[in-house]
Amino acid sequence: MGSLETSTVLFTDLVGSTGLATRVGPGAAESLRRDHFAILRGAVETTGGREVKNVGDGLMVVFTSSSAAVGCAVEMQQRIERRNRKADEQFSVRIGISMGEADVEEGDYFGPPVVEAARLCAAAAGGQILCGDLVRATAREGHEFRPLGLLDLKGLPEPFSAHEVDWQPAEDSAHTLPLPPRLREVPPVGYVGRDVEREGLTFLFDQVREGARRVALISGEPGIGKTRLATQLAVHGHGDGATVLYGRCDEDLGVPYGPWVRALRHYVTEAPDEILRAHAEQYGGELAQLAPEIRTRVPGYPEPRETDPETERYLLLGAVTSLLEVATRDAPMVLILDDLHWADSPSLSLLRHVATHDAPLRLLVLGTYRDSELANDHPLAILLADLHREEGVSRIPLTGLEEDHVVTLMEAAAGHELTGPGRRLAQAIVRETDGNPFYVAELLRHLREAGALVQGADGRFRIEGRIEDLGLPQSVREVVGRRVKRLSEPSRQALAVAAVIGRDTRTRCSTCSRRPRLPRWSTRRVRSDASPSRTR
Ligand SMILES: Nc1ncnc2c1ncn2[C@@H]1O[C@H](COP(=O)(O)OP(=O)(O)OP(=O)(O)O)[C@@H](O)[C@H]1O
Ligand SMILES: [Mg+2]
Repeated sequence: MGSLETSTVLFTDLVGSTGLATRVGPGAAESLRRDHFAILRGAVETTGGREVKNVGDGLMVVFTSSSAAVGCAVEMQQRIERRNRKADEQFSVRIGISMGEADVEEGDYFGPPVVEAARLCAAAAGGQILCGDLVRATAREGHEFRPLGLLDLKGLPEPFSAHEVDWQPAEDSAHTLPLPPRLREVPPVGYVGRDVEREGLTFLFDQVREGARRVALISGEPGIGKTRLATQLAVHGHGDGATVLYGRCDEDLGVPYGPWVRALRHYVTEAPDEILRAHAEQYGGELAQLAPEIRTRVPGYPEPRETDPETERYLLLGAVTSLLEVATRDAPMVLILDDLHWADSPSLSLLRHVATHDAPLRLLVLGTYRDSELANDHPLAILLADLHREEGVSRIPLTGLEEDHVVTLMEAAAGHELTGPGRRLAQAIVRETDGNPFYVAELLRHLREAGALVQGADGRFRIEGRIEDLGLPQSVREVVGRRVKRLSEPSRQALAVAAVIGRDTRTRCSTCSRRPRLPRWSTRRVRSDASPSRTR
């Protein structure tokens, strides 16, 4: 026999749960789903809610108080936000809350508040909490709401007056600057492998937290995972309270100090007023040349000093170092300078200055570059040789992923575990790509588009024909073509030889003594598809 009960009902839903297995692989998706439930249940426990049931990838929870329900929703979002800061894979949850009289039968709840909460949940975006008028009216002070007006919610006869609950990250993480936008993008596949490199970088980051300055230079061929590794470490560091800055060098149209400008503009836009003000008072107005936004942040910001160009340059270098010094007093910093093989000379001078200056900096610089694009007389090659002698500078050369990790990547792409033929395909792909994750993804995409990998009605992929018979994907060909374009003439000649006699050649470039390091199958095709003469 059922009864009527005035209740506040809360629904949650894990955003994008259907695509999760595709992004991170079935095993990782399952463990992420379990983590997510554990986090939500922790919040329910501390706020006095009662879990009614588990609905798909979410929970239905009831409360006798609407304040407690809103408090629970905020606690859930804060716990997820805190967890995301330290995790490899991010996830988000939407939440809907409604209050009213519910029919209670054998411990389950039915009726208007249940339907409304479920519909509000479905209408919310990841990270959002939506609730109805009654919740808004009855929740005690201490919560902020933003009216959203009348929403047309599927399944409800009338438009429904809804509010968004405003929530902030928990105190312990609120002081950290937000991640730069480029690092907030969720990558299409989960992170695999690189345990040794990640351990090494984490060790450096720990030293930075203790007060040291460290520079790690991550090198490798295009697509090998330099940016992703740096990003991965930076996001972890951010979870531990680090300020993270990101600046990329431009291939064409580079402005002087390009990567620094990008990195510093983020800092100047987000940094606390008092740090910027104190810096201006102590060190003058040079910084506006790189980050003009500082003028709007600091009223009466001084003009840069005018003197001879060399002194001006020196003042600018000093302004940046001093800003980093002030900024890293409160929190350690991770600064990514991406694609340094395209850096302009002023940017490299600034990097040299920051890496060698004796100011106390709790700073980890992560520089990435394509070693395949550095001739001996490249300005970066000269800087690398000089920095080699400096304490606290390490080099991290990346090579291809191991077969097991390529299998994990492929399982993530397929959304299911690989069986015998799938594993054999993985072996072939490792052979063809040398474990370069970019090439792996491109080759898989190509195999699907060419009809060699077919998804059956059961959602599983099967292989048609022999992958050796398929051509080179266009985007891989372009990358290879662009690399060939950049090589010096002797290197191109060496490459042409390598293309003819195969990848295991001992051939070395006569100028730089390096072996051409294209993946096996790309060198094989260089002759016909990306021949030096056709690519400038
Ligand atoms: N360990 C990894 N696990 C999963 N995916 C990875 C991994 N490393 C790289 N990737 C993916 O491979 C692709 C290429 O990686 P990334 O952009 O970091 O290469 P890169 O070395 O920086 O290349 P470039 O020299 O062109 O900048 C990206 O889609 C990235 O997400
Ligand atoms: Mg990169």
